[in-house]
Amino acid sequence: MTISIRQIHPVFVGEVTDIDIARPLARAEVAAVEAGMDRYAVLVFHDQRITDEQQMVFSRNFGALEDARGGNITKPEDKRLQVGMNDVSNLGRDGQPLPRDSRMRLFNLGNMLWHSDSSFRAVPAKYSLLSARVVNPMGGNTEFADMRAAYDALDTATKTQIEELVCEHSLMYSRGSLGMLDYSDEERAMFRPVRQRLVRTHPVTGRKSLYLSSHAGAIVGMPMPEARILLRDLTEHATQPRFVYVHTWRPWDLVMWDNRQMMHRVRRYDEGQPRDMRRTTVAGDVPTTAQVAAA
Ligand SMILES: [Fe+2]
Repeated sequence: MTISIRQIHPVFVGEVTDIDIARPLARAEVAAVEAGMDRYAVLVFHDQRITDEQQMVFSRNFGALEDARGGNITKPEDKRLQVGMNDVSNLGRDGQPLPRDSRMRLFNLGNMLWHSDSSFRAVPAKYSLLSARVVNPMGGNTEFADMRAAYDALDTATKTQIEELVCEHSLMYSRGSLGMLDYSDEERAMFRPVRQRLVRTHPVTGRKSLYLSSHAGAIVGMPMPEARILLRDLTEHATQPRFVYVHTWRPWDLVMWDNRQMMHRVRRYDEGQPRDMRRTTVAGDVPTTAQVAAA
């Protein structure tokens, strides 16, 4: 079986067929998926009935799995899935939708803001892989925005202005923009801002892209309101419909994206009904810029 990839959006996104990711992949298949990621940045696989173990095995073809610690406020005793799996469902340990006032639920609403996974980590994520186990009956599409195409479309003056800029990213910035401002001392330490370049260069293709995320809340050396306006303007530019692919989920879809060159967000859905989505995250290998030592 030779895998094939067909582009399904004018600027990015490939649909992959003739592959069964529940089985161990041949080296050539892994290489074909990697090459597809470099080119299309988002890959869609349909009808992949996988277990959590199979999802982790498939993901490890592309690098080590990211350590999920420090990425949420869920306490270990409240976790529904095993280590290695990121739970991006709306479910508690009992398998029921989380109550409306659940702090975990409110924190997870941040996934509805445009972001790049783990941009709040000093070494941010490479790929994310999201498997749809139970699809919500209403809404819940995931949207992807191509940060390479968005960068290419900037005017030269803006490209020059932002080339060397460094942003500060933290979960407290994204959640803060939703009005979640109260954190324990432990959470504050865990969510300490990290630095990321605003313009990234892809290590394989050499293409430049905007490295935006709702976690970005400041720019080094720039007054806060000026930074926020610039980030907001760039985000508005980068998420125009011409750069966006909307994925409508079917059960057992798996979508894989390159966080180094994409932003994504989830749209609202019926939170009284289950939406069971399970993510694995492939760790990145280098920081985008130097960090400052802890005070
Ligand atoms: Fe995400």
